[in-house]
Amino acid sequence: MIGQKAEASGEFLPDDLPGTSGRLDVLLRCVRAALLWSHGIREDVTVYLVLCGGPRAPRALRIRGSSARFIRPDERSLATLARKTLASRADEGADGFVEVRPGVAIARQGLESVLSDLGPVPGFVLEEGAPDLRDSEEATGGEAVFFLGDHLGFDERTRERLAARGARPLGVGPRSLHAEDVVAVVLNELDRRQASRR
Ligand SMILES: C[S@@+](CC[C@H](N)C(=O)[O-])C[C@H]1O[C@@H](n2cnc3c(N)ncnc32)[C@H](O)[C@@H]1O
Repeated sequence: MIGQKAEASGEFLPDDLPGTSGRLDVLLRCVRAALLWSHGIREDVTVYLVLCGGPRAPRALRIRGSSARFIRPDERSLATLARKTLASRADEGADGFVEVRPGVAIARQGLESVLSDLGPVPGFVLEEGAPDLRDSEEATGGEAVFFLGDHLGFDERTRERLAARGARPLGVGPRSLHAEDVVAVVLNELDRRQASRR
């Protein structure tokens, strides 16, 4: 998830996220949708937040469902986790992601750190008006990587960088949805495919 203005330092107020964090709230709602089901964590999901706002940008925050602990569904708790993690300077001078608590890591260099952490999987760019996920078997089975924009969508540079890597556009229907709803629709589709293969 790419936050064009999302604050890369821990300097925001969890009680006023929309007003102080460059809309990190949009990304944190995606974290909840991607990592949590009603009574547990999706151990096979890893979430990356690319944070392009503020003086410490760009940075990236990674949460692995397989090893993260105490991930709670409410936005305030997620904001507190993000704030404490981003206040760390463990990534300064380091190459790639540095774990600062179980399953939660940070890196300098934003999108580039994420792409090198992911390796060669090209992935899909979720975009309004793109070919429908429902008509595509491509994301079924194996590893799938999905890139999402925030309330501002993707900037041209990011779009070009992802296209150069071979990421293909994929859509989830005719309307422009909130990013967290897109995450829920994609995971629901993948859950159904997984269940029908059993
Ligand atoms: C609220 S939308 C962004 C709207 C923004 N005003 C724009 O023009 O790009 C947030 C993100 O959700 C994803 N998204 C929204 N609707 C979608 C759809 N129908 N299919 C696939 N992705 C979608 C895209 O990644 C988008 O960048």
